[in-house]
Amino acid sequence: MNLRALAAKVVFQVLEKGNSLSVALPEQQKQCENSKDKALLAELSYGVMRQLPQLDKLVSDCMAKPLKGKQRILHQLLLVGCYQLYFTRIPSHAAISETAEACRQLKFDGLVKVINGVLRNIQRQEKPLPTDNDTLTYNTPAWMIKRLQQAYPDNWQTVIDNSHQRPPMWLRNNKRSQTRDEYLALLSQADIAASAGEGSDAILLDSPKDVLQLPGFELGAASVQDGAAQWAATLLAPVDGELVLDACAAPGGKTCHLLEHTNIELVAVDFDANRLERVQQNLDRLSLDAKLVHGDAADIDSWWQGEKFDRILLDAPCSATGVIRRHPDIKWLRKQSDIEELVQLQSKILDHCWQWLKPGGTLLYATCSILPQENAQQVTAFLERTQDATLVAIPEQPSSMTVGWQITPGMDNMDGFYYARLVKG
Ligand SMILES: C[S@@+](CC[C@H](N)C(=O)[O-])C[C@H]1O[C@@H](n2cnc3c(N)ncnc32)[C@H](O)[C@@H]1O
Repeated sequence: MNLRALAAKVVFQVLEKGNSLSVALPEQQKQCENSKDKALLAELSYGVMRQLPQLDKLVSDCMAKPLKGKQRILHQLLLVGCYQLYFTRIPSHAAISETAEACRQLKFDGLVKVINGVLRNIQRQEKPLPTDNDTLTYNTPAWMIKRLQQAYPDNWQTVIDNSHQRPPMWLRNNKRSQTRDEYLALLSQADIAASAGEGSDAILLDSPKDVLQLPGFELGAASVQDGAAQWAATLLAPVDGELVLDACAAPGGKTCHLLEHTNIELVAVDFDANRLERVQQNLDRLSLDAKLVHGDAADIDSWWQGEKFDRILLDAPCSATGVIRRHPDIKWLRKQSDIEELVQLQSKILDHCWQWLKPGGTLLYATCSILPQENAQQVTAFLERTQDATLVAIPEQPSSMTVGWQITPGMDNMDGFYYARLVKG
């Protein structure tokens, strides 16, 4: 099938059906013949998500009336066409003819001329990218811009710009297989340029690679995980023999890192049964073992009769505003009202997990959010209502930060992330 038609289907799935890009894209990639096609399909789908408001405006301005109902997918096809004209090196004539052909493949033969005409118009007019308001200028919903302005009054534009950069690829060396230096040598032998990151197992690739090109990947020599997410194991700092709870575990990146790190007894729980299967797949690839539970981290009593935990990692469900550079669809799937709901859910899970922590134990609260409501404010409120909780400083955090460590997107090449280390008195 024509790649533009597949891209339109991906964009349709996200914008009209509310599915995430990480589900919709692989589904359509199954129809690609080779990795080059898969990469172009990803580029078109991600690109439209990044630049959506500007593309929407350019397309809508060239239409007499909006496409509705069954024809709606043609609006998404036009976004894909417009993206190619403005943001890729694909020659305009090829972009337009391929996109028009996609219209035929989508079974709208009668509208091929319309698609062709609209794209030719956009190309001929050569309008600059629209910047009439902040949403257009920053390709970000107004409510999100407002929250970021409040949170980062001095550098909100940088935070947004960094959320639109293409993210680097990070690896986590499996120290049970080899040392990081040994793995860097293996990468170098395979002609893959890379350097050590700040975290003890972190490796930053100069350019992204297919995982199957990575030495020993299938045997578990390394995993793909952003540098920011890799701090969880170091900051939780479990000790051999301890009983540890990974309270929101799926898909299991941090679960596996904890087990590579130390010989612990790990209970990994997640609410989502499908995502929990991915934890098992990750454990299998790395030959690791944990007790997996399909359950609610806010109701541990219902599935755990064992003793309390020495340490708890609470990688809470969140807005994911720190990882927009990897998941640009978040900008359109998240709604302002989600934030308050998430804050309440986080606080409920946090309070409950705390009851299951042994005295003297450590709970690491983490999110991939950059909104203070989910992070520093959440932890401040928790400390105020929890007598036996103490916040322990994280050495990596700048001294000006008082409540937890807020990493913003792009900081040392990392995703946006937040950590707070809490000890039970
Ligand atoms: C940020 S993700 C966790 C990522 C994971 N720690 C990793 O490193 O791969 C948050 C997870 O919380 C799960 N979740 C949401 N509410 C939950 C609840 N009440 N109990 C347990 N898990 C929950 C979601 O299904 C999701 O998988």
